Amino acid sequence: AKFTRVDQSTCIACGACGASAPEIFDYNDEGIAYVILDDNEGCQEVPEDLYDDLEDAMEGCPTESIKVASNAESLMDE
Ligand code: F3S
Repeated sequence: AKFTRVDQSTCIACGACGASAPEIFDYNDEGIAYVILDDNEGCQEVPEDLYDDLEDAMEGCPTESIKVASNAESLMDE
């Protein structure tokens, strides 16, 4: 399983993640990204058919703000 969360303290609102993975990431009023699936809680499993998009987004983020983990707990600890 994969879970994801945006570290909003380092996101610079570059907008790449939502372009790579529009079903996973969207932006708030300031352009800061969040995970649509679970309102950036990192608690909802990413559907497997979105894994490729997720990887593209993770690799494309210039500030490495997109965190991915195999369990929700490790994301919530960060
Ligand atoms: Fe922010 Fe990275 Fe997305 S800087 S807008 S999380 S690509």
